[in-house]
Amino acid sequence: MISASSSKPDPSATDATRRRYQRLSPFYDVMEGMAERRYLPWRTKLWSRVPGLHVLEVGVGTGKNMPFYPDGISITGVDLTPGMLQRAQKQASDLRLESRVKLYLGDVQQLDFADGMFDSAVATFVFCSVPDPVLGLRELKRVIKPGGHVLLLEHMRSPNPFLGAVMDFFNPLIVRLMGANINRHTVENVRKAGLEIEQIEDLGSGGIFKLIVARVPSK
Ligand SMILES: C[S@@+](CC[C@H](N)C(=O)[O-])C[C@H]1O[C@@H](n2cnc3c(N)ncnc32)[C@H](O)[C@@H]1O
Repeated sequence: MISASSSKPDPSATDATRRRYQRLSPFYDVMEGMAERRYLPWRTKLWSRVPGLHVLEVGVGTGKNMPFYPDGISITGVDLTPGMLQRAQKQASDLRLESRVKLYLGDVQQLDFADGMFDSAVATFVFCSVPDPVLGLRELKRVIKPGGHVLLLEHMRSPNPFLGAVMDFFNPLIVRLMGANINRHTVENVRKAGLEIEQIEDLGSGGIFKLIVARVPSK
């Protein structure tokens, strides 16, 4: 389904997401090890396209994007889960990025930043787990300056009707085990949040993985 959205985050759904990722945080990098080989070229491609000097990364996780941060830009990273953010802090320190990477605990559904503060925002494999993805995407629209960009690397429900139905069936189990919904309609959610889609690149697996470049409408 395309997500229904409200104007405030649901505290119990947000707590449940935080608890799942807190539980997974010690194992997350190992769990994702195999998949990461596939993701590396996608991360490289995404970060080669990020415009601007002040960039927000939401759902920064354990800091898997940090090796790809372009030189000369400052990054503000936010994550909901203390265990994930602690690992991101270590990754920033190992890569000697502390001077230009600032990390905060926070919720993308309710960001503690002023309007239009950033040039661009990035999220990779995040909007599958944000309880109200449209609310989170609307927050990105608010904190990015008009005309700025939101770049997403996400998996979503297959457009194949059979595979889509299988994903719907297994989704509750996967959410419980891994924290991620596998049947989100992320492209539609981006539009629903009021962002203008500039480009959608199909990355494989029959339309499940996509790189989405969206723009905050100019006022
Ligand atoms: C699947 S992990 C992806 C991490 C990282 N972006 C990557 O590419 O490996 C999803 C991350 O999103 C975070 N997250 C989930 N809901 C969030 C929210 N409402 N606000 C901020 N971060 C959130 C989780 O804590 C977790 O670290």
